[in-house]
Amino acid sequence: MKALVVGGGAREHALAQALARSEATVIVASMNANPGLDRLAAAAHRVDPTDPEAVVGVARQHAVDLAVIGPEAPLASGVSDALRAAEIPTVGPSRAAARLETSKQFCREFLARHRVAGQVRYVAPATIEEVDAAVAQLSVPFVVKPSGLTGGKGVRVQGLDFSDPRDGAAYAKSLLVQGDRAVLEERLDGEEFSLMAFVTDSGVYPMPAVQDYKRALEGDRGGNTGGMGSYSQRDHLLPFLPAADRDAAVAILNETHAALRAEGLDYRGVLYGGFMLTRDGPKLLEYNARFGDPEAMNVLTLYEEGDFDELLAGVATGRVDPNLVEFRLRATVVKYLVPPGYGSKPTPGGVLTVDEPAIEAEGVHVYYAAVDAAGPGRVRLGTSRGVALVGEASAIHTASARVDAALAHVHGDYYVRPDIGTKPDLDRRTEHLRRLRAPGAKPSPLPLSVAPPDAPPSSAARPDQVP
Ligand code: AMP
Ligand code: GLY
Repeated sequence: MKALVVGGGAREHALAQALARSEATVIVASMNANPGLDRLAAAAHRVDPTDPEAVVGVARQHAVDLAVIGPEAPLASGVSDALRAAEIPTVGPSRAAARLETSKQFCREFLARHRVAGQVRYVAPATIEEVDAAVAQLSVPFVVKPSGLTGGKGVRVQGLDFSDPRDGAAYAKSLLVQGDRAVLEERLDGEEFSLMAFVTDSGVYPMPAVQDYKRALEGDRGGNTGGMGSYSQRDHLLPFLPAADRDAAVAILNETHAALRAEGLDYRGVLYGGFMLTRDGPKLLEYNARFGDPEAMNVLTLYEEGDFDELLAGVATGRVDPNLVEFRLRATVVKYLVPPGYGSKPTPGGVLTVDEPAIEAEGVHVYYAAVDAAGPGRVRLGTSRGVALVGEASAIHTASARVDAALAHVHGDYYVRPDIGTKPDLDRRTEHLRRLRAPGAKPSPLPLSVAPPDAPPSSAARPDQVP
């Protein structure tokens, strides 16, 4: 099978690797030259992945049997529709269905319209004049989200990013001034998890649950990022996520699929639910219309023995063979190496020496993201996430330790969030939910003001990593 991968990050590198494992020939369409992705591609085209004509051109040139869209931007610009119009089976929902991700306002209104479970209280003020009333109407700590795409970086949370509700209101107004819409939501207390599923005409096929670390710094401090790392547990649940709550989240995905069908919205792709597990069960924070990054690396690492190309072809053509949806029972941990200061003021240009054979010899996989090749075994960091290392083991903290051991084979100036998948971090999250859900527990008083960071972001760079 010949498969086109659209996009050039670590998620796409992992997708291409999984396709190559099932002996598919991989063609790449991306703006950047990803050294890992290009290496395993039979052909790599430097095109704008959001340009429908250019992507269809590459697909036609190679007569591909399948196209897989990695990032959200091509979904937003109609690449999936253009590929389908050219009769190329495609993993990626139509632009109209991808509004679940590309418009948070659409998403909230859609879920409300269909009374899908797990909804939160929200207001989407249409004008600047309505913002103060929206804040008053919510009358609880709240979160402000730009409605449009921001790469996970535009959300501001009361108590984390601002203290005074007036500052939240001012932010919402600034979004409206810029021409976007703002969604204001009640702030939820709990622990977050990502649940992705293959969604197509024949149904919803869930993948293992993953926890992503969205904040830049240890202890969930610092700015919101695309995701600093992630883990998954051996039984495909999470330390704080029991089967009943995972099943409740799957039910929300199923209800959403039914609602999409009821509105005649085609969905053949991956539906990613970003959930908060609260004392009242899972609530939906956001939908993404694609694989998560880094979450894709967790689940694809567990898909080593199957026929990934057949599975994706099933998603693209509307009928999945459930026997192909099989993930190994192992824990996985992903850690992203990012430029120092990432999450606030990243310093680009640092060169990393990556001894891939030594890392692989430790049983750890390497996936490249926003880096340029800088000679044999060397890559140059940009301002985004650079290199992902993925370890597996039977326990999460063991997989985390494996990645740490592999870091000895990377030299240069970078930052890795140190608490990803460590035992104290897992225990802290489990304890948080246990307290929240204890019988008779009062809702915990969430912080209303922003705590001063006890370490400035610059000291977050690990000096021991400077060669
Ligand atoms: P989103 O892009 O909607 O997933 O939001 C980015 C991040 O903001 C989430 O991963 C959460 O950490 C946080 N967040 C979003 N919505 C809420 C909410 N209603 N309550 C608390 N935190 C939230
Ligand atoms: N890890 C969050 C995302 O892919 O949007």
